[in-house]
Amino acid sequence: MAQEDTFKKIVSHCKEYGFVFPSSDIYDGLAAVYDYGQNGVELKNNIKQYWWQSMVLLHENIVGIDSAIFMHPTIWKASGHVDAFNDPLIDNRDSKKRYRADVLIEDQLAKYDEKIDKEVAKARKRFGESFDEAMFRQTNPRVLENVQKRDALHARFEKALNDNDLAEIKQIILDEGIVCPISGTRNWTDVRQFNLMFKTEMGSTAEGASTIYLRPETAQGIFVNYLNVQKTGRMKIPFGIAQIGKAFRNEIVARQFIFRMREFEQMEMQFFVRPGTELEWFKRWKETRMAWHLALGFGAENYRFHDHEKLAHYANAASDVEFRMPFGFKEVEGIHSRTNFDLSQHEKYSGRQIKYFDPETNESYTPYVIETSIGVDRMFLSVMCHSYQEEQLENGETRVVLRLPAALAPVKLAVLPLVKKDGLPEKAREIMDELKFHFNCKYEEKDTIGKRYRRMDAIGTPYCITVDHDTLTDKCVTLRDRDTMQQQRVAISDLRGLIEDKVSITSLLKKLQ
Ligand code: GAP
Repeated sequence: MAQEDTFKKIVSHCKEYGFVFPSSDIYDGLAAVYDYGQNGVELKNNIKQYWWQSMVLLHENIVGIDSAIFMHPTIWKASGHVDAFNDPLIDNRDSKKRYRADVLIEDQLAKYDEKIDKEVAKARKRFGESFDEAMFRQTNPRVLENVQKRDALHARFEKALNDNDLAEIKQIILDEGIVCPISGTRNWTDVRQFNLMFKTEMGSTAEGASTIYLRPETAQGIFVNYLNVQKTGRMKIPFGIAQIGKAFRNEIVARQFIFRMREFEQMEMQFFVRPGTELEWFKRWKETRMAWHLALGFGAENYRFHDHEKLAHYANAASDVEFRMPFGFKEVEGIHSRTNFDLSQHEKYSGRQIKYFDPETNESYTPYVIETSIGVDRMFLSVMCHSYQEEQLENGETRVVLRLPAALAPVKLAVLPLVKKDGLPEKAREIMDELKFHFNCKYEEKDTIGKRYRRMDAIGTPYCITVDHDTLTDKCVTLRDRDTMQQQRVAISDLRGLIEDKVSITSLLKKLQ
């Protein structure tokens, strides 16, 4: 199945099974804004819990906060967002559609990669077992031609971005023959910068109201609370502050479902370190964060780091964790060495001294910061994309199964009476009433047992138990495993012991130790 088709299926699966709905659905939706449904919110909360606990439970020197979305407007001046949080946009005069100029060029780069991959796939099919991919990539003329074109475009694009040369960015679009996907024409306007922050007003009268912004990142809430937390928590450097919360960006091109949204959620951690040690900490946090991703069991081949060549003026190192989505490797998380830029700026704009007295060196300094910043929604999407599978069964049927890591699954155990009579529902309820205190259980009695299993597979429930007539006498149930579909007879009294460890967030956290 083409990757594009798979992605469409994942999007409709998310809606059909209560994971993600378009926002304001009955009013035909609101572009790039989504709501999480009954299963989505559970999965999302589990992701957040996994992140939060990995930060604040596993690190004695990391604490959490929850800062307000509305912040003093000067914060965004100090952080540079008012002046420089821009995307280069371009309009097509015929379709009247607006695009991010850099995204048009990135898509063009991806097209060269697709062409290369297609050549490789064709050759692999032709040569079978004896295919030497490395050799083919080094010698095939069509592959080499596309590599050369891609690299040349990449270098030119990189330079234009570094020079902030908007005219050159437009010229690249023209030279590459990039057309508007709607009108199919090259009738482009000039490239302009567009600020991504949403504005609103605070105050009751038009004259007295002041413009404030919906925060475009949660990080600034941490920076402006640095002194509060350091003092009240008596924190010693190195230490971190973690936060999960909503962020808002008026994205020009909001695409790929929940990958790029206008309202989204971030999980950010700022780690304050002694100047001069930041690159060592940067390396350590890259490793720590990659281990967090890998513990989910999606396979190392589906992740890679993308080290930034173009650095923001305040950063001295930056790297993205990219995950293989159906539409290519995409950024899920950013790890940034932000120097002391933000704290120094807030010191300057607020007039407050933001320093740390280091008792070990007897020095006062503005701490340097390593930031780890991951989007909850992008993480959710990567989990969905990796877990969604259509399987051909031995009996010829297909089943759709979400192979979610058990610790992230919305429902851990489905409790299913075989029939709706003979005391089986009552027995099932009795089991459920005991287990519901330990993990999320769902009771279902409607439809055949086969249909109920399928529904549970589709929402990723790792275990189902069936309560049958024998249960009333032998005090055992049939336990079915989602992935193997194997069934075993187990004592009711053993259920908690068999399931709890496997479905708990702790099971993931232990892999990180
Ligand atoms: N404080 C640093 C910061 O905000 P970023 O690379 O702009 O860095 C961090 O964003 C993460 O937030 C990204 O890796 C991504 O997962 C998520 N993110 C950013 N913009 C997003 C959007 N429009 N929709 C969904 N997630 C987004």
